[in-house]
Amino acid sequence: MINIAVLVSGSGSNLQALIDANLSGKIVGVVSNRPNAYALERAKQANIQTCVIEHKDFSSREAFDNAMQQQLRAWNVDLVILAGFMRILTADFVVKWEGRMLNIHPSLLPSYKGMHTHQRVLNTGDVWHGCSVHFVTAQLDAGQTIAQGVLQVNRNDTVESLAARVHQLEHLVYPQVVEWFCNQQLIYQSNGKISHKNKPLTRPIQFCQM
Ligand code: GAR
Repeated sequence: MINIAVLVSGSGSNLQALIDANLSGKIVGVVSNRPNAYALERAKQANIQTCVIEHKDFSSREAFDNAMQQQLRAWNVDLVILAGFMRILTADFVVKWEGRMLNIHPSLLPSYKGMHTHQRVLNTGDVWHGCSVHFVTAQLDAGQTIAQGVLQVNRNDTVESLAARVHQLEHLVYPQVVEWFCNQQLIYQSNGKISHKNKPLTRPIQFCQM
């Protein structure tokens, strides 16, 4: 069975979706860089071990990432899930987890890497928005996208309504991708290519919201 660690910084609604999905992998621990993240409560309620590693206690990103690496090794982790984890990871750490670390981002990557995605979509007047799940690489929000949740932006959408609608999609898409990884329908090959259900993944798999 795949041992999963989930890294969080905030509310943890994606963590909750993963808990509720009854994955064939096991969530063995949750790491937060913020002691007051509500995600920690969710983990405790689900009897999942938690660990707080506060970035401000470390003098460098390397030292912080090393502390996380130690914890992940102690838990014997196979797959790292970033679920609203708002720290940039060092290239050294990312390389250690190449092909074994996933992130969810609230935009249709490669559009809108970084922060404030909903506001930027509204500012531009885009018709389509959503979320993307990708393998993590050293460049921010740049690894190959595996799956996307897609929604149509309404004329009366606000940052808040888009955030809520994107969250709904995230809760659908992320558990599905993690399950594909756990049951080996999603495979990251040594050459960096991805296959899904024995076929090369040439474009993201899309889930649409009506
Ligand atoms: C999610 O919308 C996720 O896409 C986003 O943070 C939110 C966490 O929500 N992640 C990023 O912006 C990473 N660049 P949650 O704590 O309720 O799961």
